[in-house]
Amino acid sequence: MRFSILTASALTALVICSGVVSVVHGHGDVTPQAVETEGLEPLPEEIQTENPYRLAGGEQYELAQTIGASGYNQNCARCHGLEAISGGIAPDLRLLEEGEFGDEWYMERVLKGYSQNGAYKMPPFKELLSQEAMWAIRSYIETRPM
Ligand code: HEC
Repeated sequence: MRFSILTASALTALVICSGVVSVVHGHGDVTPQAVETEGLEPLPEEIQTENPYRLAGGEQYELAQTIGASGYNQNCARCHGLEAISGGIAPDLRLLEEGEFGDEWYMERVLKGYSQNGAYKMPPFKELLSQEAMWAIRSYIETRPM
């Protein structure tokens, strides 16, 4: 009897503790999320060299920016800063070059990430995001004012 009460309260303590831990852990530590890209023109499998939604312009480009804003907040903001304003942990993405040259560099980094001494400073997003989501995030970033 005594044993089972102890066990029960130990379990309760454990549950409470892990609750607290997950709350603390959850703060600012956002797990990469798939980005819903419904409405955007699906892209061929081949990686594009220039932002296809900027090239399309109009509503596609606007929708890409909206989708990209939430994709950015879920996947990039914890390192590159809210609203693409860097807090210093990682480069300010508003400084990326405009146009095709900036696009290529952007895609290279997002697909492969960046590692130093065997540790990823930026995870590769190749398996985490669709190409549509990556270009949507680029569309958002390139329209953020400096
Ligand atoms: C865990 C932190 C982290 C996350 C998350 C992250 N990055 Fe990075 N990113 C970095 C760091 C650190 C660098 C600097 C690497 C270097 O020195 O070139 C970087 C570099 C970059 C660069 C090259 C910038 C430049 O000026 O050369 C791009 C583009 C980029 N990240 C885009 C993204 C995008 C888009 C996302 C979200 C899909 C993202 N990153 C998520 C940490 C992160």
